[in-house]
Amino acid sequence: MAVAENTIWERFLFPVLGLLIDQEGLRHYGESVDWDKESDRFRRDDVVIPAYYSSQDFHGISGGYLNYNAAITYDPITQYVTPPNETWVRQELIDAIQVKPRRILDLGCGTASTTLMLKQAFPQAEVIGLDLSPYMLVRAAHKAESAGLGIKFIHGQAEATGLSANNFDLVTASLLFHEIPVSISQTILQESLRLLRVGGQLLVLDGNQRALRQLEFLNDIFVEPYIREYGAGSVDTEMGVAGFRAVHTKDVWWVHQLTSGIKAISGLDVTNHSNIRQYEPTAQEDLQIFPSPAFDSKA
Ligand SMILES: C[S@@+](CC[C@H](N)C(=O)[O-])C[C@H]1O[C@@H](n2cnc3c(N)ncnc32)[C@H](O)[C@@H]1O
Repeated sequence: MAVAENTIWERFLFPVLGLLIDQEGLRHYGESVDWDKESDRFRRDDVVIPAYYSSQDFHGISGGYLNYNAAITYDPITQYVTPPNETWVRQELIDAIQVKPRRILDLGCGTASTTLMLKQAFPQAEVIGLDLSPYMLVRAAHKAESAGLGIKFIHGQAEATGLSANNFDLVTASLLFHEIPVSISQTILQESLRLLRVGGQLLVLDGNQRALRQLEFLNDIFVEPYIREYGAGSVDTEMGVAGFRAVHTKDVWWVHQLTSGIKAISGLDVTNHSNIRQYEPTAQEDLQIFPSPAFDSKA
């Protein structure tokens, strides 16, 4: 795997993670998949791959998400770079759901770690994961299949999904916004508003923008071309500007943040909307049934 040079990631973190990761298991999984054939199942010729995306390196891995190495290594790396525990962090998004969703869309779903938890929390709901990388979708589909969860995966751009308007009760985006230009996040917020029904909820889980501003060195740890731009902005403000109501951001384990917004008819008091309810948080011991979204080499 080609790794960008002379970064903190390349010099310190990647060698350490290399020792923790089951490299043999990854190699075995990588070789067991016909990536060209399987990614062709998802690849759509009409999906435009924007320059901001194809030029991006993911956590220092050259080539970004448009290669199968990214799909293979994403989960093993992410479990170590989502403190204090990847499942707890993702569970905060699930616990913040205030609607009774019949249709859920997870934008930039990647290998579907959050998507799987959404389907597990709402088994009756139709859950769709959308991503620009057909390779990430291959890995996502393997994980869903191995977990026995029926999830539909679509190759597409989060900012221009081509999906019908007013058709989702819940739209989510986890760990997506720090990887894209702010102008694209703003377009994704507008697209999410278009996709949601009135009373529907948008949840954006990502790095804590205040922490990124306060601790400059965090921006240098990973090779993320848009992280400074992301840290300087405010998802909370942008959600309000896009037209969401009841916008609220909370810190998640200090290094992450979760922003929620509701699509409301202007002037409607969304707190009294009949579709909105308080989700019962999952007891920590229940998380054992889904111990980690991380890579399972036996999958
Ligand atoms: C850091 S990963 C996050 C994956 C997953 N949501 C998670 O929580 O682990 C970012 C994902 O967003 C996808 N992505 C980036 N820009 C996108 C866009 N404009 N539209 C759709 N997917 C995008 C990438 O291909 C990648 O899979």
